[in-house]
Amino acid sequence: MNAAKSPWWHTATIYQIYPRSFSDSNGDGIGDIPGIINRLDYLADLGINAIWLSPIYKSPMDDNGYDISDYQEVAAEYGTLEDFDYLVAEANTRGIGIILDLVVNHSSDEHPWFIDACGSRDSKYRDFYTWRDPAPGGGVPNDIPSVFGGAAWSFHEPTGQYYFHQFTRRQPDLNWQNPELRESIYRMMNWWLDRGIAGFRMDVIDLIGKEPDRGITAEGPHLHTYLQEMHARTYGGRDILTVGETWSATPNSALLYSGRNRNELSMIFQFEHVTQAWHPIHGKWQPMDFDLVALKEVLGKWQLALAEDGWNSLFWGNHDLPRAVSKYGDVSGYHKQSAKMLATVLHLLKGTPYVYQGEEIGMTNVSFTSIEQFKDVETLNMHRLHLEAGLSANEFIAGANVNGRDNARTPMQWTQAEHGGFTTGSPWIEVNPNYRHINVEASLSDSQSILAHYRHLIGLRNQHPVIVYGRYQSFLDQDPQFFVYTRTLNDQMLLVVANFSNKPGMLELPDELQLQGECISYNYDPVDHIGPQTELQPYEAFAVLCRGNK
Ligand code: GLC
Ligand code: CA
Repeated sequence: MNAAKSPWWHTATIYQIYPRSFSDSNGDGIGDIPGIINRLDYLADLGINAIWLSPIYKSPMDDNGYDISDYQEVAAEYGTLEDFDYLVAEANTRGIGIILDLVVNHSSDEHPWFIDACGSRDSKYRDFYTWRDPAPGGGVPNDIPSVFGGAAWSFHEPTGQYYFHQFTRRQPDLNWQNPELRESIYRMMNWWLDRGIAGFRMDVIDLIGKEPDRGITAEGPHLHTYLQEMHARTYGGRDILTVGETWSATPNSALLYSGRNRNELSMIFQFEHVTQAWHPIHGKWQPMDFDLVALKEVLGKWQLALAEDGWNSLFWGNHDLPRAVSKYGDVSGYHKQSAKMLATVLHLLKGTPYVYQGEEIGMTNVSFTSIEQFKDVETLNMHRLHLEAGLSANEFIAGANVNGRDNARTPMQWTQAEHGGFTTGSPWIEVNPNYRHINVEASLSDSQSILAHYRHLIGLRNQHPVIVYGRYQSFLDQDPQFFVYTRTLNDQMLLVVANFSNKPGMLELPDELQLQGECISYNYDPVDHIGPQTELQPYEAFAVLCRGNK
């Protein structure tokens, strides 16, 4: 492949901001757009190329902005449209693009379309949503469950029908079968594109082809037709990044979404590496340890499936997932080493890496003790349902502290000042008490910090095409302790080695990997020579680049 002609997002690293929790400029305890602008120099210094902003639109905030009541207005607590335009301009002057979250599987129940639709069965907007009569004997039209618990149908008394919602009852699903709805969405997208944004992250986009009557929610029959239509009507001719959130994607469908000639998306977020560590029945609320052999198998499968066509996204965390270092590393014994190890493994894979805010300083899960400390609508709904089903409050809280979404949503830890320097007021959700030693200020003054390691890895991607385009091959697939892979491009080979354990271990590599080269990344001492046996320290990870000397 000719690297010179490839899209910018092949070499880009993206940083995700959850606006509510990033930086508060006016002391109301809620992060905002001017707060983000104040931190742009920090992000530019980290070397990222674009920011994915979780929703900033007007919203009653039932699901922190993933419930939009006006797609063309900024939430008052986050700022104004003017602030947003200023953010785009200021980011652009630092070489950073702004990627917006496109939440169009559903709207808020306070969106004027839904309010009008509720007015009568004859409303012009009634068909923008999905309405069905009660089942013949009464009750819900069918048994599709909501992702956040309970039924996906709620009864609307005044008009005598049920409406469909895959998330909370305050997030009614939009009906993509209606062409006028689709046109309205495309108009809105173009309006934002014209403001100079760099792309869209598309919320649960695999659900828009739903056919509720047939029990189909994800990857419905018209999904790809809609995406191709969207591409043609909006961003097709523009140089932007599009990434679809697709919990249901398989390697096969990934090629449909992100194939070079498909005219759909740049890439998708797949979640197989996340869900493989979930309990088969109780999902994330009954936490299980992850299994390295299974994790390697999943990541490797995706690397190979999208090797020739399509494109991978690479991430450990986001605003819905626990903190990566808590999930896959060792916060108490090897915080720094394990956080750097995880970053090394992920950033040297093929794909576009995403850094979730705070990951770059090793932010960790919280330990809340009372349900009042949790704010997430999913956690609160599930708390009610699981307690009704017999789980004790303590058991539930233990699970939520491991996998709940609030872990990712505690405020960004900037300094060791009160509330981590996130706000001068009182934060909407408590700051993790470990802000006193885990914070940006401390990281900036430490040349060995996790932050310094991220900056280094992000820089490497721009220097070495082998990281962007090299062919992936894995080794020691059945080994439960080490993750070993190579990336090969022309006469260059990059060897990446990681110890996923808090114990040291003896690594024995096949002859072909006993080599010499330049150690371009490490978290203990540089390793430039691999013999028949190499002793690895707890969570040690390094990468050796060999040029033409194999
Ligand atoms: C996506 C978002 C999540 C949100 C849900 C409904 O999964 O990432 O935060 O709650 O969609 O919009
Ligand atoms: Ca604020």
